[in-house]
Amino acid sequence: MFSRKKIQVLGGLILVLQLFVFTSAQRRSSNPEWLTLDGSPPLVIARGGFSGLFPDSSATAYQFAVGVSVPDLVVWCDVQLSRDGIGICFPNIKLDNSSAIQNVFPNASNSYDVNGVPTNGYFSIDFTFEELSTVPLTQGIYTRSPAFDGAFPIQSVEEVFIQSEPAGFWLNVQHDEFYSQHNLSMRSFILNASQNISISHISSPEVNFLRGLGRPLASTRTKLVLRFLDEDAIEPSTNQTYGSLLTNLSMITTFASGILVPKAYIWPLDATSYLLPHTSLVEDAHRVGLEVFAADFANDVSIAYNYSYNPVAEYGFFIDNGDFSVDGVLSDFPITPSEARDCFAHLGSNASAQAKPLVISHDGASGDFPGCTDEAYAHAIRDGADVIDCPVQMSNDGVPFCLSSVNLLNNTLATQFRTLMSTVDEIQPAPGLFTFSLSWTDIQGLTPVISSPYSDSLLLRNPKFRTAGRIVSLADFLNLAKNSSSLSGVLIKIENAQYLAVNQGMSITDAVSDALDEAGYNSSTATKVMIQSTSSSVLKAMRRDNYELVYEVDETISGALNDTIADIQTFADSVVVDRMSVLPFKAGFLQNMTDVVSQFQAFNLSVYVQVLMNEFSSIPFDAFSDPIVQINTFVNAANVDGVITDFPKTAAAYKRNLCLKMDETPAYMMPAQPGALMSLVGPAPGPTAGPAPAAAPTPLLTVEDVAEPPLPAVVPSSASSPPEATPTSRPTNGQQQVAVSGLLSLLALIVAAALLF
Ligand SMILES: *[C@@H]1O[C@H](CO)[C@@H](O)[C@H](O)[C@H]1NC(C)=O
Ligand SMILES: *[C@@H]1O[C@H](CO)[C@@H](O)[C@H](O)[C@H]1NC(C)=O
Ligand SMILES: *[C@@H]1O[C@H](CO)[C@@H](O)[C@H](O)[C@H]1NC(C)=O
Ligand SMILES: *[C@@H]1O[C@H](CO)[C@@H](O)[C@H](O)[C@H]1NC(C)=O
Ligand SMILES: *[C@@H]1O[C@H](CO)[C@@H](O)[C@H](O)[C@H]1NC(C)=O
Ligand SMILES: *[C@@H]1O[C@H](CO)[C@@H](O)[C@H](O)[C@H]1NC(C)=O
Ligand SMILES: *[C@@H]1O[C@H](CO)[C@@H](O)[C@H](O)[C@H]1NC(C)=O
Ligand SMILES: *[C@@H]1O[C@H](CO)[C@@H](O)[C@H](O)[C@H]1NC(C)=O
Ligand SMILES: *[C@@H]1O[C@H](CO)[C@@H](O)[C@H](O)[C@H]1NC(C)=O
Ligand SMILES: *[C@@H]1O[C@H](CO)[C@@H](O)[C@H](O)[C@H]1NC(C)=O
Ligand SMILES: *[C@@H]1O[C@H](CO)[C@@H](O)[C@H](O)[C@H]1NC(C)=O
Ligand SMILES: *[C@@H]1O[C@H](CO)[C@@H](O)[C@H](O)[C@H]1NC(C)=O
Repeated sequence: MFSRKKIQVLGGLILVLQLFVFTSAQRRSSNPEWLTLDGSPPLVIARGGFSGLFPDSSATAYQFAVGVSVPDLVVWCDVQLSRDGIGICFPNIKLDNSSAIQNVFPNASNSYDVNGVPTNGYFSIDFTFEELSTVPLTQGIYTRSPAFDGAFPIQSVEEVFIQSEPAGFWLNVQHDEFYSQHNLSMRSFILNASQNISISHISSPEVNFLRGLGRPLASTRTKLVLRFLDEDAIEPSTNQTYGSLLTNLSMITTFASGILVPKAYIWPLDATSYLLPHTSLVEDAHRVGLEVFAADFANDVSIAYNYSYNPVAEYGFFIDNGDFSVDGVLSDFPITPSEARDCFAHLGSNASAQAKPLVISHDGASGDFPGCTDEAYAHAIRDGADVIDCPVQMSNDGVPFCLSSVNLLNNTLATQFRTLMSTVDEIQPAPGLFTFSLSWTDIQGLTPVISSPYSDSLLLRNPKFRTAGRIVSLADFLNLAKNSSSLSGVLIKIENAQYLAVNQGMSITDAVSDALDEAGYNSSTATKVMIQSTSSSVLKAMRRDNYELVYEVDETISGALNDTIADIQTFADSVVVDRMSVLPFKAGFLQNMTDVVSQFQAFNLSVYVQVLMNEFSSIPFDAFSDPIVQINTFVNAANVDGVITDFPKTAAAYKRNLCLKMDETPAYMMPAQPGALMSLVGPAPGPTAGPAPAAAPTPLLTVEDVAEPPLPAVVPSSASSPPEATPTSRPTNGQQQVAVSGLLSLLALIVAAALLF
């Protein structure tokens, strides 16, 4: 059963590897800026191969890692021993979680003492290598995709070496004492293996094991590395805690040339998951001549809030902080440290940015601060956004201001005004507290709240600044933008114009035009003004010569008809589409790429895609939970003109990265290939065996979707009276946001994976 699938998948794998074929980009000449022990670039070490995507230690994981990472990649293998003393690569001493051994050898589990702890499970010492080599590997971390399970068997250390031909090969011996107790010698295995294969590093948390290898390996280039566990864990051969071993680094130099430490040894966290200042460990170790490797890097785990969910930024703290660089990083996603090292480190303050994509903020830097506040805008500018955005809302006394939702309950603490809640069918079916029910004075006094779209997956945004900043008026927003020399434009979003005209007696389009005039924006101002709306009648009401008019397509589409685009062209200069309209993905995998971008561009309309976020739950597996790979895919595969993002800092850094300027783009700065992984996976795994219910086809954008009556004349009304519910009125097209949920939540993944077992 496994072998047939294996052949299929192997065929697919070769396909994927061909797509990622990379023309051996020359390693850049040794950069004197590296503050590693010997001044060479820090090593990228792939734990179990590309174990963030494929089953740890599988042939796919190793080959994929080598294919997409830096040319000097070091491949990591956790060694376990079979009953006949053959070394295999497998991540844990127990085989239960990362293989299908229960299916192959039912009832063959056992109980052993592991470092003093009675442990029940499947152990490699109970099986010969021949038996183990029939056992399929599976994804042992249940938040990752099980889609590649069962296709590849357990392999010997030597097989892994021959097949991946790595520049460096790192063996980690987590347990020596355990195997010794069962009369199996890691030492003999290693010494035998070292005659056949070239081992660059051997690490172990056991001091005696490393001491015993020093003399026999003295004539080789193999480096011995002491692996540190938790500070209060006991090192079995010295009876000291790892924390106390750390206090005498010169003692470690007597048997090892380096140490491997959990990343928090270097950048510790406080109790609220913010970074504390770095320790002096790397500098101290370098002073006595020890290399320092940092472990526990993965793109799909929570990281310190300081990194804003950008794993590339995290590596920067370890390799490019001005004080030191670690000598290597151990990662489950080796493409990301490859980018961090070769594309993003040492950018300097004046690395030039390429023209595309236009980086447009979404509610300012709303990934780090409450959206649309003075803080969010100030940071978006500082972070390098090209354009900052203001979704305009109206107070009941006619003051236009910036806030992402017309419903104040969505992003402020406004409980004291609950009595002013009302139901407005044109806006949302549920009762809300609408901006046009409060005065500007009251609104100014509200406390804004950060949005956290992935709080279900426990991925909160910057909790320390959950309620930072103040709501700003459109006038203040425009002045702030005008005073910034780095911005190229402002984007002003106008919604609910018809409702406000008819029911509240306000013209939001006039309010915006007046604010722009008052702030001194005109066709000769350096700062470009973009006016965005889902309503064609709003755009038609604006003066086209002064502004770039941006039509927001408010549904997920698979394409647009030519006459529709020609129609849009009559009132807009560019369009905003959601990311699912460009790169649809399902069950975490990119399906394919639509022609939406090129269709609009053929009519000279620029295309901006929304909304990009950094949280790994929002990123398809094809982009490796890496926000930079996702941006790169939209820019270089889908060819969008701009990205609308909650994290402008990440997109701005992307534009400046050095790999975009290289003659030959390295593999780790290639866009993801939509559909390539899907072709490996076949039908999405699911709990039901029957045919999947046919999903409604994604629609094409038609002229009817776009057409609207012109904006009605303003109907004067008593501004202070609360709005009446008007249940019979027809919602105008584009005025209701359709929530498009294509994103795979972490929870859904966990459930899907659990059902498979
Ligand atoms: C293996 O999976 C079980 C859940 O099925 C979990 O409780 C356990 O911690 C896992 N063990 C390892 C070593 O990951
Ligand atoms: C495994 O053990 C259970 C209970 O001990 C028994 O019912 C079952 O038949 C065994 N399965 C195999 C394949 O031996
Ligand atoms: C290991 O070998 C020793 C001596 O040859 C023997 O006494 C002992 O029982 C063996 N232990 C195991 C777990 O096989
Ligand atoms: C090491 O190799 C020698 C000869 O090649 C062999 O006799 C011995 O059994 C091997 N030991 C192990 C542990 O593989
Ligand atoms: C080393 O290679 C030889 C020849 O390929 C093989 O017979 C031997 O078993 C290998 N030794 C180890 C330890 O893998
Ligand atoms: C470690 O400590 C335990 C108890 O504290 C003691 O029994 C054991 O002999 C010690 N081992 C070594 C190697 O010092
Ligand atoms: C550190 O270890 C070295 C070498 O083992 C030893 O000479 C020295 O006394 C130790 N220093 C302390 C402070 O324990
Ligand atoms: C991390 O962020 C917190 C909160 O903004 C800040 O106080 C701290 O200094 C930051 N840590 C580092 C190392 O930058
Ligand atoms: C900025 O550019 C200038 C001129 O190209 C160069 O001399 C300088 O070193 C650069 N500064 C940084 C920090 O990269
Ligand atoms: C406010 O939030 C709710 C739920 O989070 C959502 O259903 C509603 O559409 C939002 N309203 C607006 C006007 O954005
Ligand atoms: C749509 O317009 C594009 C660009 O002008 C053209 O190449 C294409 O053939 C048109 N498609 C149809 C169906 O007319
Ligand atoms: C993309 O995939 C969808 C669903 O699988 C399919 O309907 C559509 O035709 C595909 N589009 C292209 C351009 O392959």
